[in-house]
Amino acid sequence: MEYKRTLITAALPYANGPVHIGHLAGVYVPADIYARYLRLKGQQVLFVCGSDEHGVPVTIRARKEGITTQQVVDRYHGIIKQAFADFGISFDIYSRTTSAVHHQFASDYFRKLYDEGKFVEQTTEQFYDPETGHFLTDRNIRGECPHCHNLGAYGDQCEKCGSTLSPEELINPYNAETGNPLVKKPTSHWYLPLDQYQQWLEHWILDEHKEWRPNVYGQCKSWLDGGLRPRAVTRDLDWGIPVPVEGAEGKVLYVWFDAPIGYISNTKELCDAQPDKYGTWQMWWKDQATRLIHFIGKDNIVFHCIVFPAMLKADGSYILPDNVPSNEFLNLEGDKISTSRNWAVWLNEYLDDFPGKQDVLRYVLTANAPETKDNDFTWADFQARNNNELVAIYGNFINRALVLTGKYFDGKVPAQGVLTDYDRQTIDEFCNVKGELEKLLNDFRFRDAQKEAMNLARIGNKYLADTEPWKLAKTDMPRTATILNLSLQIAANLAIAFEPFLPFSSAKLRDMLGLEAFSWENLGSTGLLTEGHSLGEVSLLFEKIDDAPVQAQLDRLARIKAENEAEAKAEALKNWQPVPVKTPTTIDDFDKVDIRVGTVMECGPVKKSDRLLLFRIDDGMGGRTILSGIAQSYPDPSVLVGKQVLFVANFPPRKMMGLESQGMILSAVDADGKLVVTTVTSPVRNGAQVG
Ligand code: MF3
Ligand code: ZN
Repeated sequence: MEYKRTLITAALPYANGPVHIGHLAGVYVPADIYARYLRLKGQQVLFVCGSDEHGVPVTIRARKEGITTQQVVDRYHGIIKQAFADFGISFDIYSRTTSAVHHQFASDYFRKLYDEGKFVEQTTEQFYDPETGHFLTDRNIRGECPHCHNLGAYGDQCEKCGSTLSPEELINPYNAETGNPLVKKPTSHWYLPLDQYQQWLEHWILDEHKEWRPNVYGQCKSWLDGGLRPRAVTRDLDWGIPVPVEGAEGKVLYVWFDAPIGYISNTKELCDAQPDKYGTWQMWWKDQATRLIHFIGKDNIVFHCIVFPAMLKADGSYILPDNVPSNEFLNLEGDKISTSRNWAVWLNEYLDDFPGKQDVLRYVLTANAPETKDNDFTWADFQARNNNELVAIYGNFINRALVLTGKYFDGKVPAQGVLTDYDRQTIDEFCNVKGELEKLLNDFRFRDAQKEAMNLARIGNKYLADTEPWKLAKTDMPRTATILNLSLQIAANLAIAFEPFLPFSSAKLRDMLGLEAFSWENLGSTGLLTEGHSLGEVSLLFEKIDDAPVQAQLDRLARIKAENEAEAKAEALKNWQPVPVKTPTTIDDFDKVDIRVGTVMECGPVKKSDRLLLFRIDDGMGGRTILSGIAQSYPDPSVLVGKQVLFVANFPPRKMMGLESQGMILSAVDADGKLVVTTVTSPVRNGAQVG
């Protein structure tokens, strides 16, 4: 298949919060690299994105903040759009799913499939709040867990005992937001019968797209192997695109039905506004000569590889994605990035802290891109890659080449002169870079591609280090000229090679070299700068990052971690209920247990055990040793020394870790599972009996 143009989409981010480094690394930087690369090659490219503004989370956020849902999406649409622009993500259009064009388009899309009988209608019983007149989603339903009787379990999960639940299983379900009791009420919805597309999808993906990334192909295969079932494409909600069918009042299109249609409607919005520049939207979506590529994160695979293609197929007039490069997740300092826990580096905040350093973040995120497995972002790595790679290799080479040209040739490109074998060898090496880069970029292997571009800078550095023009300048000006001419050619090549990855730095370097424009085809050329050409003003391409700003970031994360832990503890305390009282017993049974008071003389860890603490107790009877499994609750056991504690005195001795334990220290279990040793309120004689 000969393609004439490439349509690139990047997953529409939810407008319920700002975007963070995980979004950038997973979707938007790779998509942007690809778009820039193809444009630089002179290909016809359209790069489409926008905000995903429907769905339940934005409505919850609005109620929490006491503002309208429209206000929520307006705010985040603005913040997200700005962040993408700031980071040079070169969308041709960034629109939104609340636009009039999108509402009309998605509505028409549904209506056409509806009229053609492509949906099945089904009535099911759903939980309903008679007070508010709303049907509820699983997450909005709470009730008593049938397993552990936690009163605050969610309709999909009990966070206390960890069991997966369905709302039907909850005892006395209630509305999570209002507390109102719920009833069951029948409601009808339209379903896309994915089962009817199973065979076609199996053939299209499993046979015809074996080249998709293993993580993508594997997820599709396991969905297909599990057998596809019809999926509801409508919801009972009042935020979204109304279902354009009579009698469907109070129902909207499911957010995952309308959002991907946003790729098409945003294209339409752009093409209708500037048809001369962009052509028609049908050319981008209905011509088999268009190659469609979806950039997404791994949680979006099923929607882009199975559901959306089935929607496109149901219509019948659209092209299908040729590839769906999906990344795994990026973690932050070893922990999963989380919006609700504020465990993230927000793009807007990054730019406040590191103004002008967009490319540094782009570079680090691509160097660590989670292309084949989850990956970790750390501030130490961020600093190291900036200082040891961008500054020490790329920046250093450019600076030396330009400063030396300024010094010896008054900032004008010197004559190339006669090339030596070593020059030719260097040229051969850097000419290879173009082919390598293309192979990797065409394969969506951006991480390795960026490494290859950095190799070009390494070649340049090595060339300068080996030829030492600063020494030759004293004796051999023609040779110095050749060396600097070639170095400048390499610098110009670097500006091209890095453009898809580091667009701001490439623009800066281009200005320093006094170049107007460049194209990918020139990569590998040694004639990019002609003799006598005047260079622009020289400045540092990258700057070293000190420890202080990096430490500030680590401090911020440590603060957030402490806050989250305190919050989790407060939450646990709030939901805490005492365990039920044990079955009745008698005073006689209690009397059998001999509980005494003793003073802790020593308390410390036990070798090879992270659970046990060793107590030496003055029990008023010559002393005893007791081992207790509470080490996790007492990181500093010395706080117990000198305290009078309660212990069971008449258990038979027990050996643990080669030590003998003569009794049991009594402690209480707190809501978060922490053990607290019980003590007396005023001094008592050691050996006194408790009863
Ligand atoms: N908003 C979704 C997410 O962030 C992605 C939507 S992609 C689209 O996971 F295809 F639906 F647009
Ligand atoms: Zn439970």
